[in-house]
Amino acid sequence: MVVPFAPGGPSDKIARDLADALRKPLGQTVVVENAAGAGGTIGAAKVARSAPDGYTLLVHHIGMATAPALYRKLPFKVPEDFEMLGLINEAPSVVIGNGSLPPKNFAELRQWIAANGSKVNLANAGLGSASHLCGLMFQSALKTNLTTVPYKGTAPAMTDLIGGQVNLMCEQATNAVPQIEGGKVKVFGVTSLRRLTIPALKDTPTLAESGLKDFDVQVWHGLYAPKGTPAPVLARLNAALRAALKDAELVKRQEALGLTVISDERLDPAGHRKFVEAEKQRWAKVIKDAGEYAD
Ligand code: MLT
Repeated sequence: MVVPFAPGGPSDKIARDLADALRKPLGQTVVVENAAGAGGTIGAAKVARSAPDGYTLLVHHIGMATAPALYRKLPFKVPEDFEMLGLINEAPSVVIGNGSLPPKNFAELRQWIAANGSKVNLANAGLGSASHLCGLMFQSALKTNLTTVPYKGTAPAMTDLIGGQVNLMCEQATNAVPQIEGGKVKVFGVTSLRRLTIPALKDTPTLAESGLKDFDVQVWHGLYAPKGTPAPVLARLNAALRAALKDAELVKRQEALGLTVISDERLDPAGHRKFVEAEKQRWAKVIKDAGEYAD
């Protein structure tokens, strides 16, 4: 199971969680392999050119839908070069900052950014990553240009955020909640339209509540196989995914981090494909408007 980001980040956590839960329904061990870089496109390309025998899978997120718009020279087509195996979950993100940043809340952060502009740096996991896209939306909503600092994943970025090398990041709750609970970072807002109920974030306003009208970024993860993987193998993998997402321990762990485990029509390959195509359209417009291209 290939993860296109660095170990220890949200995508890696979700993949390792799923690999554990797939062991029983598949009756065999699933090994996670990190192939990070270029906003997730290196790992995705690796799976697109792998043998379609069901033994090489990809866990990837919203980057699957955004890469076609961002990378004009992409070595694979989405969704054509992949078989959809089902959507796994949805994760809100949060805007977090180094623990010793002056602002204490979103209103103060907004003033601080207005006063410091491009002196403020914003970490992300590379062009096309979820943290990059959320950061893009955040900057355009604030009508400002911050200095972005790319990493191979948000795990190494989080280390530098806590260390003070970078100021801000728009990170998935998956990876941010433990650091917020540990008091290691400050949280300024949730990127979903609805507030979260988990203890670490129940008092944190949404960015929309704080004045960024209709700001809504949710990071979804899905499971994929190379194009041409035989239908009986795909059916077996989808059945195993459905069983894994019913695993009580997995659901409890993911909901404790503010994630929503998918149980609707997007768990069906056809529903998954329809969703990815709709997201591709949605983000193509955001990226075109931002005029931000990776190559
Ligand atoms: C990661 O696992 O590092 C993230 O999913 C990266 C990102 O897209 O922000």
